[in-house]
Amino acid sequence: MSKVTVVGAGKYGSTTAQRVAEMDVVDEVVLTDIVEGLPEGLALDMNQASSIEGFRTNVVGQSDGYDKTAGSDVVVITAGLPRKPGMSRMDLLEVNAKIVGEVSRNIAAASPDAVIIVVSNPLDEMTALCQQVTGFPHARVMGQAGMLDTARFKTFLGWEFGVPATDVEAMTLGSHGDTMVPVPSLVKVGGKALSEVASAEQIERLVQRTRDGGAEVVALLKTGSAYYAPSSAAAAMVKAVVTDSGAQMPVCAWVDGEYGISGVYLGVPATLGRGGVTRIVELDLTDAELAHLREAAEAVRAKQADVAGLV
Ligand code: LAC
Repeated sequence: MSKVTVVGAGKYGSTTAQRVAEMDVVDEVVLTDIVEGLPEGLALDMNQASSIEGFRTNVVGQSDGYDKTAGSDVVVITAGLPRKPGMSRMDLLEVNAKIVGEVSRNIAAASPDAVIIVVSNPLDEMTALCQQVTGFPHARVMGQAGMLDTARFKTFLGWEFGVPATDVEAMTLGSHGDTMVPVPSLVKVGGKALSEVASAEQIERLVQRTRDGGAEVVALLKTGSAYYAPSSAAAAMVKAVVTDSGAQMPVCAWVDGEYGISGVYLGVPATLGRGGVTRIVELDLTDAELAHLREAAEAVRAKQADVAGLV
């Protein structure tokens, strides 16, 4: 039986559970939270949509422990606080480290063979922390950020040039924060290279809007952060792992020599399968883009090294 657990029944977690259930690619989705009745109620509600949406996945809620999550193939960790307007993701470091640390310990005990996808913020640091606490091989712990940041970049590019986002090729690498690296040289809009259709000013504006993409949503919502696009991104990663598809996507993965960078969790393109991250893909970047990626690596490296001390 294939099983996916989503820890945290807030908006991000519950929409991820819903999207995974509606994909109909696993037998069971377990949604957990510490709020009594919340995951059970949401699971009940989701199951009642199954005949309309046409999925056979059973959704289970649990608010009193982890036993129902036991033996999960994939676990998505959404637990932790979201940002409030004006906060940076890094402002959540200490409070979320305690939450993600405890969740990681429980998940490792209940599902020792799982692939873990971390989405809690600050993303790159929480992913590193989860790997340190679980002691899982690096390939089985990754973070979700690049899929989301890339999807935002595609949306803004599509709007700017009047094409659907589905006709845009793009990639963002680096951190899920100030050192995010959207990669203009890899962008194609309606089949054309970005440099053919955009001015330097346009490119810089779209890159900056992508870097600020999460904060723009937080500022509008006023309470809570984005969840529709984030849960799409997380669910796509879950699907790639459980179906062993080998799909290539930008994820926060352990980099060990690729791009001349070693020993850090960083947003890079990777192929995903049952084993988690099955390969880091090295794309041709311009010298400037490569320099930005290396700067991002150094920016997150120091924080990731001492994050275990916060647990
Ligand atoms: C965002 C949060 C989820 O970027 O990190 O919207």
